[in-house]
Amino acid sequence: MARPRTSATTEPVAFDRCLLDLDRLSAEQICELLRRASAFFTSTQDGFDTLRGRCVANLFFEDSTRTRVSFTIAAQRLGAHVVDLSAKGSSVAKGETIADTARTVEAMGIDALVVRHHAAGAADIVAGAVRCAVLNAGDGRHAHPTQGLLDALTIATEFGRLRDFDLAGLRIGIMGDLAHSRVARSDIGALTKLGAEVVCIGPPNLAPPSLASLGCSVTDDLDAALPTLDAIQALRVQFERGASIGTAREYAARYQMNARRAAMMKDGAAILHPGPMNRGVEISSEVADGAQSRIFLQVRAGVAVRMACLEVAMASSRVADDS
Ligand code: CP
Repeated sequence: MARPRTSATTEPVAFDRCLLDLDRLSAEQICELLRRASAFFTSTQDGFDTLRGRCVANLFFEDSTRTRVSFTIAAQRLGAHVVDLSAKGSSVAKGETIADTARTVEAMGIDALVVRHHAAGAADIVAGAVRCAVLNAGDGRHAHPTQGLLDALTIATEFGRLRDFDLAGLRIGIMGDLAHSRVARSDIGALTKLGAEVVCIGPPNLAPPSLASLGCSVTDDLDAALPTLDAIQALRVQFERGASIGTAREYAARYQMNARRAAMMKDGAAILHPGPMNRGVEISSEVADGAQSRIFLQVRAGVAVRMACLEVAMASSRVADDS
């Protein structure tokens, strides 16, 4: 089939060359990105050519499956070349700074850098060091903007809100280890800007009351919250960042999304998880693989969201180059 030389939409989007977190985007900009992503998501076309001849570098200095692969597929579907760099095997392992690495890669003719790093603020440092587009693929506990967007797209798809992405009237729970979660911060930012009511749920050490300053409510009582929710995002307990839950059995007794709890939710309620999952801890296999699970819809939405973000950021960086 001939590759169409079209974008998903021809509407312009006001957007900086960098996508670092969702706090810096207005509700209108988020809607516009989601509109583009939705067009990619529902398109029957097999390819787009808007980034033909351009090059995207994945700088992944922390492990990833979903984000790394979906950025790669997204860039390739738009016609771009992709190169991959990780800490192991690159000069970062010899002590090179991330800013020097970014400048070096940019000097080779890269048009966009996709940055995953264990330290909060790493993507900002890269953005300050280069002139090309920079997309944050998750930095420490700070932000994971494309995850926030893909979760919003998943919920909008599930509840028939693709026309205007107005999530008013939906009550969304985010449950588990919010304290260590960049996903939680980006989800709260995206969902509240689109009008959803967000409830953070977990034990106080993992869902601290201070989260309320982000515009959501906070509770430690999952069973009381469940019948009020249209969707819930179960978050991974991040043991590697020092999350403390007592025993897995004790935690599961109060905070595992299992079949009994799934049945307590509203009819048509959706269960999400950004992955990777700790099966048997924050989510049971029965629920992860069950009828209410939208986990693979999230994964699919991720490719479309990253196509939209790459296209817009790289269009903005080209405008900046030309000016
Ligand atoms: N959700 C997410 O960021 O998954 P990865 O760490 O596999 O990219």
